[in-house]
Amino acid sequence: MKCAVVVVAAGSGQRLAAGRPKALVELDNRPLVEWAVSAFLAVPAIEQHVVVAPVSDTNLVASLVGPAVVVVAGGADRQGSVANGLAALRADITHVLVHDAARPLVPVAVVEAVVAALTAGARAVIPVLPVTDTIKQIAEDGTVSGTLDRSRLRAVQTPQGFDRAVLVRAHEAVGHDAERTVTDDAALVEAMGIPVVTVDGSDLSMKITTAHDLQVAAALVEVHRH
Ligand code: CTP
Ligand code: MG
Repeated sequence: MKCAVVVVAAGSGQRLAAGRPKALVELDNRPLVEWAVSAFLAVPAIEQHVVVAPVSDTNLVASLVGPAVVVVAGGADRQGSVANGLAALRADITHVLVHDAARPLVPVAVVEAVVAALTAGARAVIPVLPVTDTIKQIAEDGTVSGTLDRSRLRAVQTPQGFDRAVLVRAHEAVGHDAERTVTDDAALVEAMGIPVVTVDGSDLSMKITTAHDLQVAAALVEVHRH
């Protein structure tokens, strides 16, 4: 088995609205993309590192992440960026993790758990957390149409791990369906009928979407420093 990671960092960060791409926004004086890549550089089983950067910032991102990391330009949406990352993988890579730069504090232990599941034979792996809020389904008029069984619900994080050929096939299968917005690689693999294994995620892998999330992440950095 030869494992690689594709860190997608090419989004514009509209909701964070920081005046620059989200991956370049700093958390404790370090750009989010650098944080995100560091967890994977710390895992020896990850043999190739690819970062997908905003088209206008590929050189800047390359200088941030260093010469050991391949930097390619992003696509129009997340799915397009993942596809560009997959296209940059070495021929000998058999498994690939896909991670959002928007989850900068992912612990090394989560990366290792995903790699371990792939090593054990899983073709698709996702880190998940139990859902603590009760989740309701609503009708179009906003009234409640149902209450989901919380014990069976999980919130999904990244990195998601895949057999490389499976993920490439999944991407090709939806490649021409412009109507479908895909935010999750595992959903593509599920649609092919391939079992998706779950491992424990982490509160530290929280996704930074808004300015509030960035403040929470800054507080987490503080807490974990001590
Ligand atoms: N992403 C990407 N290429 C795109 C869009 C998104 O690589 N064309 C990446 C983002 O950089 C991020 C991850 O996908 O790491 C999840 O996307 P999201 O949190 O939505 O980030 P943005 O698209 O940058 O944010 P927004 O939707 O608020 O603009
Ligand atoms: Mg987005």
